[in-house]
Amino acid sequence: MKDRLQEIKEKAFARISSAEGLDALNDVRVSVLGKKGELTAILKGMKDVSPEDRPKVGQWVNDTRAMIEEQLAAAKDRLEAAKLELQLANETIDVTLPGSRPKTGHRHPNTIALEEVEKIFIGMGYEVVEGPEIEYDYYNFEALNIPANHPAKDEQDTFFIDDDILLRTQTSPVQVRQMERGKLPIRMIAPGRVFRADEVDATHSPSFHQIEGMVIDKHITFADLKGTLEEFAKKLFGEDTKVKFRPHHFPFTEPSAEVDVSCFKCGGKGCRFCKGEGWIEILGCGQIHPRVLKMSGIDPEEYSGFAFGVGLERIALLKYEIDDMRLLYENDVRFLEQF
Ligand code: DAH
Repeated sequence: MKDRLQEIKEKAFARISSAEGLDALNDVRVSVLGKKGELTAILKGMKDVSPEDRPKVGQWVNDTRAMIEEQLAAAKDRLEAAKLELQLANETIDVTLPGSRPKTGHRHPNTIALEEVEKIFIGMGYEVVEGPEIEYDYYNFEALNIPANHPAKDEQDTFFIDDDILLRTQTSPVQVRQMERGKLPIRMIAPGRVFRADEVDATHSPSFHQIEGMVIDKHITFADLKGTLEEFAKKLFGEDTKVKFRPHHFPFTEPSAEVDVSCFKCGGKGCRFCKGEGWIEILGCGQIHPRVLKMSGIDPEEYSGFAFGVGLERIALLKYEIDDMRLLYENDVRFLEQF
C-alpha cells in the first residue's frame, strides 16, 4: 500500500511540475484528488483494510493528499504569477511612442480677416453692429437714395422675396437702421452677409460678405474719411501702404470715391498680383448724401458724416494671396488647415 501511495505521489509531483498552465494543473487535481481520482479510489477502498491497519493507512493517505495539495497550491501560485507577468509585458504602454494628434478646427480666413478689421475699428472707437439679411426694399434701396427704376437696383441683381422684401444686396441698409435709432454721434461698422444673383466664378458668389462703416457727428469732413481709411489701410496691409481716392459715384454718398491701396507685394511698381497696376481697389466710400441723412431724421445742416463699404472676401483673398474665391466656400479641410 505504501508503495502504491508513493507511486501516486511521485507521478502527481512529476505532472504538477511539468504542467504548463492553470488548466493542465486542474486536470492533475481532478485525476488524483477528484471524485474519480486515484487517491480518492484508495480512500474508498479503506473498508477492505483490516481494522488494525486502518489508522496507519489512513494516516499515509492523508499525508500523501496533504503533500500533493501543497504542491498543487505552490504550482498554482507560480503559474498565476507567470500569467500576470506575461500579461503585463504584453500590455505595457510605450510612453516614448509619438502620440496621435487630435484634429483641431481652424478659423476660416474670412473670420480671421473680419476679426482683424474689427480690431482696427474698435481701436478707433467704433461700435460693431448688425442688421437683418432679409430686408425691406426701403432700407436696401429707397432710404439710400436709390429710388425705384434707378439703374443701381438692376446693377446689384437683387433676389426679391416679394415686392417689398428682398435679400439685402449690401450692408448699407444697416446705416439707415442705425440712423433711425436717433442716437448721435454714430461710429459704427456693420459686418454681414449680402446676396446678389451672380454666377459663381473665381471672383463672384451669390452670397458674400461686406463690412459697412459709418460715422456721423458735427463737422465730419472728407478729410476725416481720408484719414480714417488711410489709417485702416496701413494697419491692415502694412505701414508703407499708400492710399489713392478715385472719384466715383454711389447714390448714397456725395462726393463718392473708390479707394485703391498701393500693392503690398511690389510696393507699387507693378507685379502679377496687382496685374501690373501697382494699385489694388479695396472699397467704396463717400460723404453721406444730405438726402440720406434727412430721410432718416438727421438734420444735414447740423450733422455730416462719411460711410464706406468693404468686401470681406476681397480682403481675405488679398491678405492670404488666394486667387479663387470659391476656395473660401468649399470648406475643403486641406485648404482650411493652412490658416
Ligand atoms: N454698398 C456699396 C456696394 O455694395 C459699397 C459702398 C460704397 C458702401 C460706398 C458705402 C459707401 O457705405 O459709402 O457696392
